[in-house]
Amino acid sequence: MSSNWLRPVADTGLMISPVGFGTVKLGRNEQVKYPTAFDIPDDAKARELLALARDLGINLLDTAPAYGTSEERLGSLIKGQRDHWVICTKVGEEFENGQSRFDFTPEHIRFSIERSLKRLKTDYLDMVLVHSDGNDCDILERYGCLEVLNDLKKAGLIRATGMSTKTVDGGIRTLQQADCAMVTWNLNEQGEKAVLDYAAQQGKSILVKKALASGHLVTGSDPVQQSMDFVFGHPGVTSAILGTINPTHMRQNIIAAQWASLVNG
Ligand SMILES: NC(=O)c1ccc[n+]([C@@H]2O[C@H](COP(=O)([O-])OP(=O)(O)OC[C@H]3O[C@@H](n4cnc5c(N)ncnc54)[C@H](OP(=O)(O)O)[C@@H]3O)[C@@H](O)[C@H]2O)c1
Repeated sequence: MSSNWLRPVADTGLMISPVGFGTVKLGRNEQVKYPTAFDIPDDAKARELLALARDLGINLLDTAPAYGTSEERLGSLIKGQRDHWVICTKVGEEFENGQSRFDFTPEHIRFSIERSLKRLKTDYLDMVLVHSDGNDCDILERYGCLEVLNDLKKAGLIRATGMSTKTVDGGIRTLQQADCAMVTWNLNEQGEKAVLDYAAQQGKSILVKKALASGHLVTGSDPVQQSMDFVFGHPGVTSAILGTINPTHMRQNIIAAQWASLVNG
């Protein structure tokens, strides 16, 4: 894939592929909302998926401390390839003993970033997002999370900041303070459209989560192509984070995304 398929993340200088590899399924198979149960791929399979993603032109990896062993595994699996990948991780959600808990305090954010750096075996993180529990505005006001992340960006530990949001107000406030928001946007769920509109107007970036409705695809003749046409039909979308551990699906998704992103400029 040529480098002109890459897209900018706001004005950060980062360039990302229109499809990112979502790595929940590399690290966690408990308390997830996928249609069918699955086994976490072993190292050989995970390595193959990463190599395939790279061959298909993907340079963006999305992970989080809440995705079980995802960060730690990626640190080993991408050893020697740090320069190829743009790593997006998160702060605020922890998944322990089969349950999520949230901590958005500045102390925890700083601790979490240090831990992500160690787990990912790197000295910088490309993108760091606050992993919201749904109370987006409350989190932003009460804890000043984006100020903390923006300070770490100034210190050179992070290149882009943002929040994975669940509300329109939270998404827009995030884009006013940071570079990007991660939002749900698919054929079934379009309630956060105003955030995408705002990003398009203001030159900010949107990462789409659940672009394939977490596998609960709508019926139709070609739901993957229809999903990608829908997702990339909005000019605010920078990249769709797709979570697959099936190489055939990964290929199919890239072809569909490539077509949709070409057609929609
Ligand atoms: N920040 C947040 O709060 C948040 C929340 C959710 C997700 N995310 C991020 O977004 C990523 C994607 O979200 P997601 O995994 O919930 O949703 P998704 O990408 O919409 O859906 C993934 C599911 O769809 C299936 N799938 C993928 N391609 C397919 C195809 N071509 N045909 C049929 N089924 C297909 C996958 O199964 P197979 O493995 O069998 O292909 C998987 O079960 C996550 O990995 C994560 O990085 C972030």
